[in-house]
This record gives sequence, structure tokens and C-alpha cells, in this order.
Amino acid sequence: MTNISIVIISNDPDSTNNITNLINKLGPHASVEGVATTFNSGFEVIHKKRPLVAILDICKGDLDPCIDAIHKILDRFPRISIFTVSDDRSSETILKVMRAGATEYLLKPVSEVDLTSALQKLGRLWITKPDAAVEHGEVFTVFSPKGGVGVTTIAINLATNIHAITKKPTLLVDLDLTAGDVTTFLNLKPAYTISDVTTNMSRLDTSFLKGVIQKHDSGINILAEPKNVEEGVSISADDIKRVLKILKTMFPYIVLDTEPILNNRTLAAIEMSEVILLTFVLTLPGIRNMQRYLTYLEKINIKRDKIKLVVNRYLKKGDIKIEEAEKVLKHPIFLSIPNEYNTAIACLNKGVPISTYDTKSKLNVALKELAITLVAKE
Ligand SMILES: Nc1ncnc2c1ncn2[C@@H]1O[C@H](COP(=O)(O)OP(=O)(O)OP(=O)(O)O)[C@@H](O)[C@H]1O
Ligand SMILES: [Mg+2]
Repeated sequence: MTNISIVIISNDPDSTNNITNLINKLGPHASVEGVATTFNSGFEVIHKKRPLVAILDICKGDLDPCIDAIHKILDRFPRISIFTVSDDRSSETILKVMRAGATEYLLKPVSEVDLTSALQKLGRLWITKPDAAVEHGEVFTVFSPKGGVGVTTIAINLATNIHAITKKPTLLVDLDLTAGDVTTFLNLKPAYTISDVTTNMSRLDTSFLKGVIQKHDSGINILAEPKNVEEGVSISADDIKRVLKILKTMFPYIVLDTEPILNNRTLAAIEMSEVILLTFVLTLPGIRNMQRYLTYLEKINIKRDKIKLVVNRYLKKGDIKIEEAEKVLKHPIFLSIPNEYNTAIACLNKGVPISTYDTKSKLNVALKELAITLVAKE
């Protein structure tokens, strides 16, 4: 453990004494650099001492000024870690405090075990270079510039099929950040979402992510879409890159469902992907759009062999043939998935992946083939 400098801000002398004693017990590993009884004087002490950690006592019934204080400290000293101390056990308060950017929420009276493990976690983070972890995970992004063509259907069933085939940990992330519907398709009510991750970037590590990711009955893991639009719009491309970087050290397979627009966030996902499944329907506008996007992706140096074209809702008797589309696009069609509305909509209404509803359907066979082909090298 490195030496961790700490400032305590609390108007509860018992709590200050307790925490100071616990820190003193740690010997050279941690030291109290200053104590303040009000937020304003605490801010001054932080300014003077530049500690690595501020321990902030939250008095019951006085939550809003504390949330304000957390924001102010982090705005001015973004590298500081804030541990909050409180006797309020309500999940609403804990969530509010963590969302404001606190690194830890410790219950009063603070125990030696809780404080030591919180400090150890920081010590570990500072000692270990984050990029020492191996990013072995393979990321599959499913994307379409047009909405409603089956991106979510393909992403969900790709994840469940990859997991069924490989038996390896597989994660599905809903990056349709303002209109995601993975949880609706899978009938899930997640306690946490990707926005709980991006509002707690200072705590970002594998153990935090494990607590936020939810397991689905099919065996896959889900990082759910934000609960509301405000949360969704506030997530940045940089947030996505940082989260994916860590997820790649945790899961061998990661499937990303995306929003139907090539903004910086979708581009961040595409740049971090090993495979991009560009999805479209075999119509003239669908092909025209693919032409545009293939050209653009080439311009921004996305390697051609990473891009797999997937035709969804394919009708054998349709006017346009696969070969004709390939000729126009100068790119092979990786796979076509048949149009089978009854099966697709029945699964959506039941909230289950297609493989658990009708294994013999042509739709399920094609979706399984997609997963097999993508992980075939193993
Ligand atoms: N192969 C298919 N055959 C028939 N219907 C399908 C097929 N794939 C998807 N659908 C249906 O098409 C509709 C749109 O699918 P989905 O929500 O997966 O598309 P999306 O591209 O993610 O849409 P959005 O832009 O709204 O996110 C759903 O009702 C789904 O059941
Ligand atoms: Mg979708």
C-alpha cells in the first residue's frame, strides 16, 4: 500500500476520533493531513494539503449540502477520492451520494475492516497500472444507420448463442443510450444500468462493474440501458471507451447493441470492436445507405475485413438478390437472416431469446449460424 494522505471533514467529534484512530493504526501507509468541522474550512484544508482522500461526514437530514460539497470538491480537485461516512442506510441516499461521485460510502461507526479495505482498494489502483490487465475480450458491435431493422434482435441472440456455443462468459451491453430496449426484450428489471457506471468513473474497476452487471436466465450478462433520456445523453464517447477497456479484461465476448446513428459514441464502440455487424434490409434505400456507410468507415480507417454485412428480414422471393447487392456494395454479404415476423414478435412479447422459444425456426437456425461463424476460429 502507498502512503495515502487524508483530510477529514466532520462536525461529529466521535466520528473524527474514531476515523483518526483507525488511520493512525495503519502506520506509514496512511496519514491524517488535516481535520475540518465545516465544509468551507474543509475545502481550504484540501486546497492547502492536496490529499489523495477526503473523508466527508454526512449528517442525517442534511444530504443536499453534502451532495453540493462532493460536486464542489470534485470540480476543483478531480483526482481526489471522496469517502463518505454516514449512519443513513437508505439505498436512495447511497445511490445519490455515489452518483455525485463519492468513491466509498462507509457506515458509522466506521469499522477498521471497511476503512482498510477501502484504502487498500485505492492503494491497489494507484500501484497497479490499469493497462497491465490483459484486454483479451472480443467485441462485436451490431449497428444499422436506420432504426427498426433488427439490431437489438440480432445483438441479443448473438450474445445468447455465443454463450451457448462457447460456454464462456458473454456480456451484452445496451449502447442504445436514449432508447435502448434490451431489458424489455429480455423482461429484465435491472437494479443498475450503464449510467450508474458512467456517473461513478472514479470508482471504475472490475469489482465495481461486477456489482452493476446483471445475470440473465440464458446465462449471459447484461449491462443495461439507462433508465431515462437525461442519463443517456450525458454519457460520452470517452466514457464508453474507458468502460469497454475494462470490460474487455473481464469477458471473452462482448456484444454491443447500438443506437441507429453514427455519433461519437457509436463510433467509439465501432473503433473498439473486433467485428462490426452492419445490418440492413435488402431494399434500394437499405443498399444505398450501406454504400454510404461502407465508404465512410473506410475513410476513417476501419479495416474492411472487420465489417460483416448482415441482411435481416431476408425474403428469398424478394426483388433484389444477394448477389446483386454484393455487386453494388463491392463487399460480401456475411449472412442473411430470414424474415419470420411471428417468431420474432412472439419472443419479444414473451421477453425471451429466440433460441428458448423455437429452436427449429429458420430464424433461430440463421441466428445460431451467425454466432457459430463468428466464433468458428475457436
Ligand atoms: N428476422 C426478422 N424477421 C421478422 N421480424 C423481425 C426480424 N428481426 C427483427 N424483427 C422485428 O422487427 C422489429 C424491430 O426489431 P429490433 O427492435 O430488433 O430492431 P432495431 O434495429 O433494434 O430497432 P430500433 O432502431 O428501434 O432499436 C421487432 O418487432 C422485431 O421483432
Ligand atoms: Mg434496437
